[in-house]
Amino acid sequence: MHPGVLHRRFLSDLSTSLFSFVLPLLPTSEELTIKEEVRTLIEKLIKTIEPSARLLSFGSSCNSFGLRNSDMDLVVLIDDPEAGLDSSLFVQMIGDLLERETNFDVKPLPKARIPIIKLNLAASPGLPFGIACDIGIENRLAIENTRLLLTYATIDPARVRTLVLFLKVWAKRRRINSPYRGTLSSYGITLMVLYFLVHVKQPPVLPNLQRIAPVRPITEEEMMLEGRNVYFFDDVEMLRQEWSSVNFESVGELLIDFFRYFSHDFQFNTMVLSLRAGPLTKESKGWTNDIDVGGLNEMARDRNRLCIEDPFEITYNVARTVTKDGLYTIRGEFMRATRILTQRHDRAVLALAELCR
Ligand code: CTP
Ligand code: MG
Repeated sequence: MHPGVLHRRFLSDLSTSLFSFVLPLLPTSEELTIKEEVRTLIEKLIKTIEPSARLLSFGSSCNSFGLRNSDMDLVVLIDDPEAGLDSSLFVQMIGDLLERETNFDVKPLPKARIPIIKLNLAASPGLPFGIACDIGIENRLAIENTRLLLTYATIDPARVRTLVLFLKVWAKRRRINSPYRGTLSSYGITLMVLYFLVHVKQPPVLPNLQRIAPVRPITEEEMMLEGRNVYFFDDVEMLRQEWSSVNFESVGELLIDFFRYFSHDFQFNTMVLSLRAGPLTKESKGWTNDIDVGGLNEMARDRNRLCIEDPFEITYNVARTVTKDGLYTIRGEFMRATRILTQRHDRAVLALAELCR
């Protein structure tokens, strides 16, 4: 058979295989129900300390990029401006309360840079692996960036969700999803995928939601949160009617191209990935690695190896955890993935299995 025909057959096989790969890894409805019950229970308890407090989910439990047994990210928002509770104290109080009133394994970290409470729930029939849960305080930007990710997913769920979910699984299996060990957070990986779909693909698969003008004028006050511009176009109904991408590449083609782009084209040494603004230079953001830190501070020197600008907190490098070795490993994985997907032209399921081995 002609190589072109074989290649087309492999690509369509790859797309089908990606959908089937991801499907059984999605959370069950039972898991989602239990998590929501846990959230409601904890919220009720927290309200006994501060009646104006609400407990919201963020991260993968509600950005549509959740996998089975993902951790739960929760945040306490206090609506009463008079409450005046100190985060560390509040974390300690919530920790004590949960310890008394529930049988979760509770670990309050009131002295951490960002005070949080860590919870672990034991396994049960609906939750064969238990749940790990982090509760933070007043992190309102996280709610907004979660909403941004969800809105992007909603525009083209078949391609966007499949790609992100697959790449999250791939990154976990290939061990490049460990911010504590010098590699990337899931949030960082997701931003890379969205950046690729908005700014690299021509024609783009997704619009830049932070650059679509609002339908009605909005005030500065509505746009700002904690001094950050958190505006993005979030009218999903209107997006569905008005935005249709003229990029018709299949999810398989996009995946190969994603790996290829980050293997060969992206300039890791000099460039910043900005979902908000497209490619930026490290220099323009002042995110260069200062070799002259005195040779003492290895961490500071490693801070800007890989640069991913947070969509709202634009002075924050989401990938600051990536070390020199971490970046080497990540780039090696992109190259390995490109090799596997461009060399094997027999069965796509086998290629995916090898990719995630
Ligand atoms: N977050 C952030 N800055 C980071 C990492 C995370 O603001 N450097 C916030 C984001 O709101 C993100 C949430 O924390 O959506 C959860 O991050 P993470 O656990 O990395 O992503 P999840 O989508 O929850 O992925 P997983 O399923 O692996 O938990
Ligand atoms: Mg999470």
